[in-house]
Amino acid sequence: MDKFELPQSGHIVSYPVMLKQVYIETYGCQMNMADSEVVGGILNEAGYRFTNDISNADVILVNTCAVRDNAEQRIYGRLGLFSRQKKERPGLLVGLLGCMAERLRFKLVEEERVVDLVVGPDEYRKLPSLIQQASGGEKGIAVKLSRVENYEDVLPLRTDGVSAWLSVMRGCDKFCSFCVVPFTRGRERSRSLTSVVNEVALLADKGFKEVTLLGQNVNSYQDGEFHFSDLMQRVAAVDRTMRIRFTTSHPQDMSDRLIETIATNVNICKYIHLPIQSGSDRILGLMNRTYTVEHYLHLVAKIRAAIPGVSLSTDFISGFPSEMEDDHRMTMTLMNEVLYDGAYTFKYSPRENTKAWEMADGVSEDEKGRRVMEITDLQHSISLALNRRMIGTAERILVEGPSKKSTAEFTGRTGANKTVVFPQRDERAGDYINVRVNRVNSATLFGERIGATHVQTHVNHKIHEGVVS
Ligand code: SAH
Ligand code: SF4
Ligand code: F3S
Repeated sequence: MDKFELPQSGHIVSYPVMLKQVYIETYGCQMNMADSEVVGGILNEAGYRFTNDISNADVILVNTCAVRDNAEQRIYGRLGLFSRQKKERPGLLVGLLGCMAERLRFKLVEEERVVDLVVGPDEYRKLPSLIQQASGGEKGIAVKLSRVENYEDVLPLRTDGVSAWLSVMRGCDKFCSFCVVPFTRGRERSRSLTSVVNEVALLADKGFKEVTLLGQNVNSYQDGEFHFSDLMQRVAAVDRTMRIRFTTSHPQDMSDRLIETIATNVNICKYIHLPIQSGSDRILGLMNRTYTVEHYLHLVAKIRAAIPGVSLSTDFISGFPSEMEDDHRMTMTLMNEVLYDGAYTFKYSPRENTKAWEMADGVSEDEKGRRVMEITDLQHSISLALNRRMIGTAERILVEGPSKKSTAEFTGRTGANKTVVFPQRDERAGDYINVRVNRVNSATLFGERIGATHVQTHVNHKIHEGVVS
């Protein structure tokens, strides 16, 4: 999982008390990344400064994930390093934030001596006072979940000037039987439409080129009579040169109006992450996913008919309790029908308090591993086949910056969320350019810049048509 660090802030407000240096490390989903920026905003306002260098920090904050056991194991692994840091620098504070903090609460303070602060996702406003308190030697814990907290008045401390995350709703009411999120993030609540539109306008003024609206179930957003489609319509109209993305959508809340809104707004990216989890109705029932494979395929057909060239990705869980070889095969059959552009596949990880925790975790680790591998291999070949069809096409991309492998090459993303690597000339992060795709692998397109003007990009997605009716 990604690690995200806030660098030294450029906008430090003077504060009479002290200027402690905070180092933040983030694990988990994009909501957590966005939350770390909210934490940054709150602490910045209270006079804290930020550092990228852990050895300079007075306070180490780790925004944690609890979705699978390995996410938590990774955090325990980090605690060893922090306790060494603490020995070297007495007075250093270590705080755990986020979902694992919420899930384990007092256990963390009691059992992990290195931890001074435990703060759940709805309690970040208390951080300045909790840090203050902990400096005085009193361990701080705040883990209440709220029905209303949405931080809509906090300006996140963003460090990227091109692409912004913006949480529009928090929490989850779906209670999928495997998922800890409803317990770690509490009930669903949405920000007001006006507050979101205003923040997007502010981002446009600051020169941001892309906004991703975030929520655990972003498409169940609701502010009075306004649904997610209304919000998207309004957000897209703020600045047509700004790309709008959103994640994550639940199939149940993918309304016709939302599909229509995505189809008819040029600057809403034609990319939908639509987790299905399994291709077996029996398993979907046990998972409490509220749809069948038939419903889902019908939805995909509607989406493809309304949004030509749309790119789809998904999540799969392998080895859910009682998943048989047959169920696994059904997942692979579904993959061959939908032809996703990408998929994230996870081994089922039992989480305490969830419904599935009570079900026998009957599939062995080895077997889970084999199934994950089969799904990953199949997805690899599907993604490669779809990407190959793009060779020779022109794509409009938003430039993001130097590629990981070479500074002579830059990367950008297409509206359909494909990464394109190209030789840099005079492009800068935040430019829109057109590229011709020359070669591909399953994860990346490689191309070169063609001209500077806008081109219409109609990728031939015939492969998708007619698979489902
Ligand atoms: N709606 C959420 C889902 C969060 S969890 C969102 O914003 O994406 C992301 C993915 O993790 C889920 O779609 C699911 O595939 C996977 N996941 C959740 N709980 C899991 C568990 N107990 N074991 C394995 N994978 C899990
Ligand atoms: Fe992890 Fe879920 Fe929490 Fe995100 S919301 S950090 S994926 S447990
Ligand atoms: Fe988890 Fe399902 Fe909600 S995956 S976040 S309970 S939609």
